[in-house]
Amino acid sequence: VTEPDLAGRHVVISAGGTREPLDPVRFLGNRSSGKQGYALARTAAARGARVTLIAANTALPDPAGVDVVPVGTAVQLREAVLKAASEADAVVMAAAVADFRPATYAAGKIKKKDDQEPEPIVLIRNPDILAEISTDRPRPGQVVVGFAAETDDVLANGRTKLERKGCDLLVVNEVGERKTFGSEENEAVVLGADGSETPVPYGPKEALAETVWDLVTRRLR
Ligand code: C5P
Repeated sequence: VTEPDLAGRHVVISAGGTREPLDPVRFLGNRSSGKQGYALARTAAARGARVTLIAANTALPDPAGVDVVPVGTAVQLREAVLKAASEADAVVMAAAVADFRPATYAAGKIKKKDDQEPEPIVLIRNPDILAEISTDRPRPGQVVVGFAAETDDVLANGRTKLERKGCDLLVVNEVGERKTFGSEENEAVVLGADGSETPVPYGPKEALAETVWDLVTRRLR
């Protein structure tokens, strides 16, 4: 039986992956499916929370009883998250946000020209939404959670990232064959700013989501 331990709480979750357009038909994107963010939304709703799900380019059914806000780019995701975060008890940034975007957008489709090499793509930084929310805390006392996909030195890199971003919890995934992107399963360690380490064994994304909410509710009390 699920305890309604998030009743009366508002949680904001970002899910999916941003797409940064180059021209009307092309973008720079990533492999995030949104499944982990949707699992977080379903489990939070089941635990009684009011849920706002900021969904970046996902192709998943809207979870029942959840407010879904579709977005495309990192800049749009930032706007939507900041708007919702001012009333949120917790913000969980599960979306894969592009760190960079093309410096210019071509209003017409970029053409291939005979006997000419293509123009290089120049990138500029996107705003770091997790770092911004962790620093500014749009609502005092709110819990901020980030995600990090790492390929090596997972724990050490995770600890550095948690400190750099300033969030309360960081879910660190090892990117691998059957894990993380597009998969139904995940395996992670949840690092706390208090120095805690909570390992979550390989299993459904729902199980990781429940652990995140266990850790969040403890910090809300
Ligand atoms: O720095 P990195 O991209 O590895 O950080 C991942 C975490 O930071 C995720 O929680 C992601 O949602 C968030 N992020 C962000 N804004 C960015 C890049 C990442 O909020 N521009």
